[in-house]
Amino acid sequence: MVQAFGFFQPTQVFVEEGAAGRLADLCKLYGSKPLVVYSADLEAFANPVIADLEVAGLSPVRFAQKDPEPTCDFIDAATAELKAEAPDCVVGIGGGSAVDLAKAFAISLTQEAGIWMYANLSNRPPLPLKAPVLPVIAVPTTSGTGSEVTPYAVLTKTDTKQKGTVQEPAIFPKVALVDPVFTAGMPPALTASTGMDAFAHALEATINVSKVAPMAELFGIQAMKLILEWLPVAYEDGKNLEARQQMAFAASLAGMAISHRGTTTAHAIAEPLGALTHIPHGLGVAISTVPVLRHSLPAASASLARLWRDVMGGEALATEEAEAMAFVDALEALMTRVGLNKTVRDILGDEKCEGLRDLLVQNILEFKFRPLKQHPVEFDKAALETITADIIG
Ligand SMILES: [Fe+2]
Repeated sequence: MVQAFGFFQPTQVFVEEGAAGRLADLCKLYGSKPLVVYSADLEAFANPVIADLEVAGLSPVRFAQKDPEPTCDFIDAATAELKAEAPDCVVGIGGGSAVDLAKAFAISLTQEAGIWMYANLSNRPPLPLKAPVLPVIAVPTTSGTGSEVTPYAVLTKTDTKQKGTVQEPAIFPKVALVDPVFTAGMPPALTASTGMDAFAHALEATINVSKVAPMAELFGIQAMKLILEWLPVAYEDGKNLEARQQMAFAASLAGMAISHRGTTTAHAIAEPLGALTHIPHGLGVAISTVPVLRHSLPAASASLARLWRDVMGGEALATEEAEAMAFVDALEALMTRVGLNKTVRDILGDEKCEGLRDLLVQNILEFKFRPLKQHPVEFDKAALETITADIIG
């Protein structure tokens, strides 16, 4: 039987050196006053971009993002001030959190409730949007989240130590300006963790069992191939622009993959892990992926064996289980090569791991259970305790 599927990807993407030069003309499509949200540590990139907008006759409103995890309270307070500026579009320059913050402002500046109410939680639906949101233009400086092409924005709520994701087609960026030069300044550790986040998006969207989504698999498999080939190059030689461009392309492809069929278990673990420990998203996902896959065997052998053949070009082995194991072993070897074969304990030390596993499992089961159902193997509480014990170390 022919299986039905849908496909929606409204973001125009430019992957090119000098892509940010297009920004002024794009902003003029929406008015004269873009809100420019940028990571405060990226002024060297943001300043010339903002200066170009001024030269072009625009009146940009600057917003330097100092906290990599802006809280919902912070977003709500900033919104009250920014409403007086009445911007007509939002530009996000930075890693995933800056682009996500731009998307959050696109909503908060046009809606009435606090931003958290628009997060789509496993245990609570979001409020519907009551008015059109501001258009978003994304200029990513990492090759990881793929936020430049997704309808997602991750939010942090401090009082309940929660992360939640807005999942709203209205915040698909109108345009993504992907310039490999903007990612060339990333240090090796950030290159590795963001690159493995992109790999996890591609992997999880490909093996996700929730619905038929051939485009997710098409994008996901190609993204994984590119990352396997180019992440070690970008990690070892950050100035290699071909490697940077291939990684930027791969991260956008992986972002399109999760736009069509979302993430699964490693993300269901890494988001609460980030909320509880402040381990950055990419690093949390990177160190969770191999333990999740090891515990997915042998039940998920068919899914992972396919990746051994289609992504890694591996030779046929005696059983699917052996092929799946070979895929996970090869992925672990890549993690080692890029300095990511580590545990939470290696990163945080013993003290901060005290009691962490139980809190983490509780947080996953309370707030983040939906992605668990999308994994080829659905883990129960006992299994999650074992997996998270491995991740924590
Ligand atoms: Fe991610």
